[in-house]
Amino acid sequence: MRKILITGANGQLGSELTIELRKLAGNENVIATDISEPDKSQREGLFEKLDVLDKELYKELIRKYKITEIYHLAALLSANAEKNVETAWGLNMNGLLNTLDLARKFEIGKVFWPSSIAVFGPDAHKNRTPQESPCNPTTVYGITKVAGEQWCAYYHRKFGLDVRSIRYPGLIGYKSLPGGGTTDYAVDIYHKAVKGELFNCFLSRDSALPMMYMSDAVKATIDLMNAQADRLTVRTSYNVSAISFTPEEIANSIKKHIPGFSIRYEPDYRQEIAASWPDSIDDSIARRDWDWEPDFSLDKMTMDILRHLPNLIEKTSSME
Ligand code: SER
Repeated sequence: MRKILITGANGQLGSELTIELRKLAGNENVIATDISEPDKSQREGLFEKLDVLDKELYKELIRKYKITEIYHLAALLSANAEKNVETAWGLNMNGLLNTLDLARKFEIGKVFWPSSIAVFGPDAHKNRTPQESPCNPTTVYGITKVAGEQWCAYYHRKFGLDVRSIRYPGLIGYKSLPGGGTTDYAVDIYHKAVKGELFNCFLSRDSALPMMYMSDAVKATIDLMNAQADRLTVRTSYNVSAISFTPEEIANSIKKHIPGFSIRYEPDYRQEIAASWPDSIDDSIARRDWDWEPDFSLDKMTMDILRHLPNLIEKTSSME
C-alpha cells in the first residue's frame, strides 16, 4: 500500500503533482503538506501544515500516516534565493537533509527530490548541455542544487536509499502564479496576455532557456518514480528536456492567438541568472534509462494554456 507525503504541495509543481498522485494512489493515500495554509488544489484530500525544518513534526507525520514515499518539493527558487541567501541555504539544504535522514531512519521506499538546470554555470556547454557537463553554478539556488544532488547520491550509495531526481528546466503551468523563479516570466506572460495587459519582461528578447509544460513535468516525475530501479544509472539527477525558447519566441506564439499582445523588454538582475544557464539540454540518458519523451511543443503548450486560463481567471475574479 502506497502512502505518499508531499512537501511544498502548494507550490507550482506541488499543486499539480498532488492532484495526479491522488488520482493514481487514491485521495486517502496522499498527504499534502506545506508551510502555508492549504490552497484550493488541496481541498479534495488530506493536508497537514509542515515546515520541513521542523524535523520533529516531519517525523510525527511520517509515523502517523505510515509514509512509504516522499516527494520533497519545498524550496526557494532562484530569484528569491538571490534575495534571501541564508534562508535559501537553510531551507533548500536542511529541508533535504531532514528528508533524507528521516527517509533512511523510517525505511521509506522511495524519495523524489527536484534538482534544476541551475546546477550548470557559465562553463557548461550552452547548447544541448550533456548530463556530465561541469556543474559550477553562479547562483545560491544552483549551489544548493549541486550540493543536494551529491547528498542524494551519497544516501543512495551509502545507505541504499532509493532517491530519484530530475534537473527540471523552467516549469510552465497556468494553474498557479509565478513562484520567484527566473524562468517564471514564461508563466506570468500568459496571465498578462489573457488579461489584455502589456507584459514587461525581465529578460532580454533573445535569452533562450530550457522549459517544460507542467503536464510534461508531472509525467516525467511519475515515469521516473515508476521506473525499475536497476535501469537507473544516474543517482545525482537526470537531465530532462522538452522545449527551449526565447521571450520573443513565446510572445510570437501568443500573438498567433492574441494578435494585439505586446511585450516590452526590461532586463534586471534575473537576466544575469538566465545568462549563466544553458539554452537547451541533452536528455538522452533519461530517454535511454526510463523512456522519457515530452508531449508538448511551444505552440501546443500555448494553445492549451490559452484554452484554459481565461476560464480560470474569470472564476477566480468572480470569487473575489
Ligand atoms: N525554474 C527555476 C527557477 O527559475 C529553475 O529551476 O528558479
